[in-house]
Amino acid sequence: MTILAIDQGTTSSRALIFSDDLQVKGKGQQEFKQHFPQSGWVEHDPGDIWSTTAASARAAIETAGNPRIDAIGITNQRETTVIWDRKTGEPIHRAIVWQDRRTADLCARLKEDGQEAAVTAATGLLLDPYFSATKIAWILDQVEGARGRAEKGELAFGTVDSFLIWKLTDGHSHVTDATNAARTMLYDIRKGAWSEDMCRLFNVPMAILPEVRDSAAEFGTTRADLFGREVPILGVAGDQQAATVGQACFQPGMMKSTYGTGCFALLNTGADAVTSENRLLTTIAYQLNGKPTYALEGSIFIAGAVVQWLRDGLQIIRDAAETAPLSAKADDSQQIIMVPAFTGLGAPHWNPNARGAVFGLTRNTGPAEFARAALESVGFQTRDLWQAMRADWPEAGDAVLRVDGGMTASEPAMQFLADILGAPVDRPVNTETTAQGAAWLAGYRAGLCPEPEEYAKAWRLDRRFEPQMDDATRDARYSAWNRAVQAVIAV
Ligand code: G3P
Repeated sequence: MTILAIDQGTTSSRALIFSDDLQVKGKGQQEFKQHFPQSGWVEHDPGDIWSTTAASARAAIETAGNPRIDAIGITNQRETTVIWDRKTGEPIHRAIVWQDRRTADLCARLKEDGQEAAVTAATGLLLDPYFSATKIAWILDQVEGARGRAEKGELAFGTVDSFLIWKLTDGHSHVTDATNAARTMLYDIRKGAWSEDMCRLFNVPMAILPEVRDSAAEFGTTRADLFGREVPILGVAGDQQAATVGQACFQPGMMKSTYGTGCFALLNTGADAVTSENRLLTTIAYQLNGKPTYALEGSIFIAGAVVQWLRDGLQIIRDAAETAPLSAKADDSQQIIMVPAFTGLGAPHWNPNARGAVFGLTRNTGPAEFARAALESVGFQTRDLWQAMRADWPEAGDAVLRVDGGMTASEPAMQFLADILGAPVDRPVNTETTAQGAAWLAGYRAGLCPEPEEYAKAWRLDRRFEPQMDDATRDARYSAWNRAVQAVIAV
């Protein structure tokens, strides 16, 4: 049995081939163009999303030695919005990406109207342009005739999973899974159904919405010409949720944090959809056999991107891997704090207008101190989420944080993370957690992958980072971070 896992991300499409014991047998990856038509706007060409996905899948199959593909799992950048014509399959506008801020004014107006409480009660989310609902409304209002056609049922909306399934099945399936539906701001996460109230509030005709299924379910079969035969699509989850599954965070209280461009931390709260008092999101971690498992989520927009800035903006490193050795040379007597609010602050502050700052500069401050401050900023931001999660859900207790993503290769960044959390940080052997989560969902549905408890036993630790910082230093450093964030918000 061979599973193709498609991981359609924000900057590249990837595909991996897994054996039924979830070993990686082949890989393919293609980057694609980012469109920035105006400040704060981010778009993708859906044609690029599809062509790079198809090419990556072909490359992965080839590098695996052209095995027969038995099942497909899909994981994807979340919230990104595509609307297409049901008859021709042609998108009516470029995809509006999760990072896009064009609907900030609409969100602010709805907030002023006192709508946020109702939005949070139904969807678990906050009124922010990050989610799909206002992006859908924007496309329907801006593309001539689109609203009328949507009302007549001629158009279809999907997050990227849904769009890819439509393409893979040649328009036979217009479906999504509960984790992706939970990111639209139109889905009632407790009732497990599209919310009429939210659709009315955001002016989205229900006729364009896909059918919602479990994360391990029948999503349709592919066109025969793509993989030499019709292949069933059996697993779907948003990328952060797939990473939660890939990290085997199946028990309430387990938490993972993925360090890519941004950082997304999810705490499994079981059957309990915990309402945050600290501006975290309530979301669906995964849905199996009709039962949703909920999570609290904290989203930070800049994590690995701060290292990219050191490389491409400041040009003090040539390669991300130089950050750790450079930071090791930093002068310990300097307490530089970098707040990388380049695109505003995400959880728990949700301040789209904040911008970055560096505090504590002296004449001796140089590249090494900047590198250390950049790595530490990721730890500080994670501590913000960690603290908010504990305040919202005291049952979380003394959890360990499971980490994945490119930045976890940095030993000093992970050590500082453990130090500033005052909790152990576990880095697994398997670095392909997101794709593996999607592969497990498909394999589980096919009856080939083990039950969650069994699968969890196969999770292997690479290294545990134990906190080494004393309490007084930790408290002093975190207080300094908080003062810096407050200053950034105040400016
Ligand atoms: O919510 C956005 C997230 O799903 C994006 O993930 O890995 O594509 O940057 P990534």
